[in-house]
Amino acid sequence: MQNNIFSGLFVGQNLITIKEVDSTNNFLKNTLSNSNPLPEGTVIMAESQYAGRGQQQNRWHSEPGKNLTFSLLLNPTFLAVANQFDLTRAISLGVYDGLKPLLGDELKIKWPNDIYYADKKLGGMLIENLLQGSQIKQSVIGIGLNVNQPIFPDWVPNATSVFQILQRNEDLKVLLSQICNNIEAWYLNLKADKTSLVRETYLSRLYWLNEKHIFRSNGNDFSGIITNVKDNGVLVVRHNINTEMEYSFKEIEFLNK
Ligand code: BTN
Repeated sequence: MQNNIFSGLFVGQNLITIKEVDSTNNFLKNTLSNSNPLPEGTVIMAESQYAGRGQQQNRWHSEPGKNLTFSLLLNPTFLAVANQFDLTRAISLGVYDGLKPLLGDELKIKWPNDIYYADKKLGGMLIENLLQGSQIKQSVIGIGLNVNQPIFPDWVPNATSVFQILQRNEDLKVLLSQICNNIEAWYLNLKADKTSLVRETYLSRLYWLNEKHIFRSNGNDFSGIITNVKDNGVLVVRHNINTEMEYSFKEIEFLNK
């Protein structure tokens, strides 16, 4: 199906919109595992998810009809499993660039793949890769972005939305198309071996890069400075002049106070 507001080659060209589903990631994975082939770039977008999934087994809550909750299918067979964090980088940059004209310089990527505005979370992603040997066969990329939701419940304390920032509603489909077009551009950079560009740009967009802040790891709070993200996605934090430590996802928490 051709969608004319999607000006890219393939991301979002096959757009399937569903009123209600448990989780768009589950829907896309189930469709694929039932041997229903879907073209690369297929996007499943839901108005409402009743069991949206976040990172670390968390739930993803989103007011029905107000936000973007969608999953994208990519087939990054050119990418070795060891380099799978490059896909996270490319997708994060695509979401970032899709939002940047709207939101400006306060927009950041919080390692590994949260989208932040100032100190609040605007969105996140759940990337589920299907591996075949040392290659990635398929990738189901679930993205949740808070767009037109005016208020958030107490149990989502650190959330914000485009509406809270700009005080106006945005057209969800237009925003989706901008994000899809930018994801496609970064994905094609990766495919064209422009890995250094992807890695350098990701680093330059990072929340708290080269700034002194408080972190928690293993129950200990410490002040440190993010200096780098290694090729494999590990975060590098400088504790003092001659100590740099490396952290994988779940090993470090950012403390906002
Ligand atoms: C996070 O915890 O930051 C990741 C959130 C990812 C949510 C999106 S919404 C669309 C897709 N379907 C899901 O069930 N989760 C992802």
